[in-house]
Amino acid sequence: MSYNLLKGKKGIIFGALDEKSIAWRTALRCYEEGAQLVLTNAPVAMRMGEINKLAEAVNAPVIPADVTNMDDLKKLFEGAMAHFGGKIDFVLHSVAMGMNVRKGKHYTDLDYNFSQKTLDISSLSLHRVLKTAWDLDALNEWGSVAALTYIAAQRVFPDYNEMADAKALLESVARSFGYHYGVRKKVRVNTVSQSPVKTTAGGGVKGFDGFMMYAEKMSPLGNATQEDCANYLVSLFSDLTKMVTMQNLFHDGGFSFTGVTQEVIEQMEK
Ligand SMILES: NC(=O)c1ccc[n+]([C@@H]2O[C@H](COP(=O)([O-])OP(=O)(O)OC[C@H]3O[C@@H](n4cnc5c(N)ncnc54)[C@H](O)[C@@H]3O)[C@@H](O)[C@H]2O)c1
Repeated sequence: MSYNLLKGKKGIIFGALDEKSIAWRTALRCYEEGAQLVLTNAPVAMRMGEINKLAEAVNAPVIPADVTNMDDLKKLFEGAMAHFGGKIDFVLHSVAMGMNVRKGKHYTDLDYNFSQKTLDISSLSLHRVLKTAWDLDALNEWGSVAALTYIAAQRVFPDYNEMADAKALLESVARSFGYHYGVRKKVRVNTVSQSPVKTTAGGGVKGFDGFMMYAEKMSPLGNATQEDCANYLVSLFSDLTKMVTMQNLFHDGGFSFTGVTQEVIEQMEK
């Protein structure tokens, strides 16, 4: 169902890798709500070619950009503005990569060169994206930028490893840049702290299935899906949430504020 919440709005969506990606579902929902889109992902991710299917479905060009490369980001924003014939209203940052996680390095035995890459791709990239938009004055007033995060930034989930630190930094960048962009242009910047969902990035976390089942049992509403997340993001890109900025918004079926549930107690008593 469409409410035309994004009619006339123009947005850039980072991070649609395949149909499971949060960004993929979000692009489809934004399009349904009337937005015009530009899609982007790392040049290496494009080799899979999947993104072209999405591009066709949402009638959007794909402009490759590695989020750690300022020239790529500049070309992306310039290309998007040329395509739209004007400025941009919203940006979804749906990008993460845990190099130590990927290489099986434990949190107590990090390779710091990998760590730097992890933080650059997963956290500082939000600063890079915002700075690129800032320098080019690419965002319209009351524009909205959202990035995806996870509650491991606040509480320990041992197997989330270095990504916990990366998400804490990402949330901090959203707050800090959100202040400056708010003052300068009334642009809002938020992070959405999403329930676990099985995607390429999510599935990389050790013991992911058990972890997801636990979250399901610990959430009064159950885990939020990609589709739910896409709906929430549409609301954040719409004019209905104009005064929300610099927030870390939990979108997790109540998990973040639940101490224990009856289901978990019963499981423990078995
Ligand atoms: N899956 C979950 O359980 C979950 C939960 C909370 C938050 N998140 C966050 O949601 C976001 C999206 O992840 P997802 O679960 O949809 O997985 P995904 O693997 O589909 O998306 C991650 C994306 O990051 C892109 N990427 C990696 N390195 C890049 C680079 N250098 N330049 C540009 N793009 C790059 C990948 O190509 C991919 O499209 C991530 O920030 C993730 O941490 C995921």
